[in-house]
Amino acid sequence: MIDQTILTSFLRRINQRYLRLEQTTTPPLPTPQSGRQYLMYVHIPFCEILCPYCSFHRIPLHVPTAKAYFQALREEIKRYHELGFDFVDVYIGGGTPTVLPEELLATVQLIRSLYSIKQLSVETNPNHLRDDIMDILQECGVNRLSVGIQSFADHLLQEMDRYHKYGSGEEIKARLIAARNRFHTLNADMIFNLPHQTIASLLKDIAILKEVQVDQVTFYPLMTSKAAQQAMTEQMGQVTFKRERAYYRTIVAGLAPDYQPSSAWCFSRQETMIDEYIVDHPEYVGIGSGAFGYLNGRTYANTFSIPQYIAAVTAGGLGINAQRQYTRYQQLQYDFMMGLFGLSLAKSELEKKYGRGFARMLWKELLAMKWLGAIKEDEQYYHLTDKGMYYWVVMMREFFIGVNNFRDQMRNQLMG
Ligand SMILES: C[S@@+](CC[C@H](N)C(=O)[O-])C[C@H]1O[C@@H](n2cnc3c(N)ncnc32)[C@H](O)[C@@H]1O
Ligand code: SF4
Repeated sequence: MIDQTILTSFLRRINQRYLRLEQTTTPPLPTPQSGRQYLMYVHIPFCEILCPYCSFHRIPLHVPTAKAYFQALREEIKRYHELGFDFVDVYIGGGTPTVLPEELLATVQLIRSLYSIKQLSVETNPNHLRDDIMDILQECGVNRLSVGIQSFADHLLQEMDRYHKYGSGEEIKARLIAARNRFHTLNADMIFNLPHQTIASLLKDIAILKEVQVDQVTFYPLMTSKAAQQAMTEQMGQVTFKRERAYYRTIVAGLAPDYQPSSAWCFSRQETMIDEYIVDHPEYVGIGSGAFGYLNGRTYANTFSIPQYIAAVTAGGLGINAQRQYTRYQQLQYDFMMGLFGLSLAKSELEKKYGRGFARMLWKELLAMKWLGAIKEDEQYYHLTDKGMYYWVVMMREFFIGVNNFRDQMRNQLMG
């Protein structure tokens, strides 16, 4: 089996090339394809405390700023309606979307007044699994609630600075039990390969998840970014990817048979559970500061400056300040990676978009993946093998680290 370090360094080189966006004050306007329904991603960057490992776009909660921000979000949502977009699925992520539940409700109500939304997914933290907040989330019509747990081990929660604000392992477990059955899909976000995590503590986490019977578990491999590295090492210990594969195997085996993989790192109790949307929606619009969108082979990034974002949308514009158009070949590579992240990919999907010659365009990738034993194919589909699932975890880990490094770069520019 190929060593993950070889794959990692290869992927890092590719990412450096692909994740270079051009900054622009006059980006090409996003345009919808006629009759197409999109996913809307909405970003809420505020958190009550900032975790040392996290490289998402997040800042400490300041209530007046957050209120002005939600107001601006609603302006940007209206703007995409004016541009002719139609949305069916909404994902509200962060940061912590539930920091101001009433503002969240007003935003969801606006979205529902403009579009016929089928599925709404919202991220939150365990301290917000309170009756009053969950009532509001139900009023919002949340179908999938995703709760950030990371681990139930108190010493790890302490190292991650989450113990005091978000609760001990026991408290989190009790809150999850109270939240069960209130939403169609209750997802627990976990992290594996934390520096002081052991196989024993991982197995204990898995046992608790099974006991609580959450509907879905997303197990992210620990991702590092250049900027978070130092704080992470100081507070949580030295990161190494050497144990990652063994930990991943422990998760896949430990969650079975109760939970089956629905993507390389998401595991569901039933097939009907709502999954992460990136697999079903390769194209999406990003709303809010620091949000990304991917439309017609072009990546868009909204400004990471909250004041700039509020000013831009209040003046009648969008938050976009960086973009990059990809070639057809690059788009095909992206669709191949994201499609197989969901475990299988219909050849007809690629053929519809890229024509019959798609396999010729992708011959190097197909050959390499088959040689590695990562994929197999039948007449209609490409499938990820058990071996391939871990390679895809490495691939997605590196992709997201690349995105995190881009976020760091954007924030540095604002500070500089
Ligand atoms: C960005 S947070 C947003 C929702 C919420 N604030 C929370 O903490 O869950 C969503 C999830 O991303 C994952 N995450 C954040 N930083 C990560 C990192 N450096 N490596 C792996 N997963 C990470 C965590 O599992 C986290 O729960
Ligand atoms: S992990 Fe969640 S709570 Fe922690 S800083 Fe990141 S977004 Fe905020």
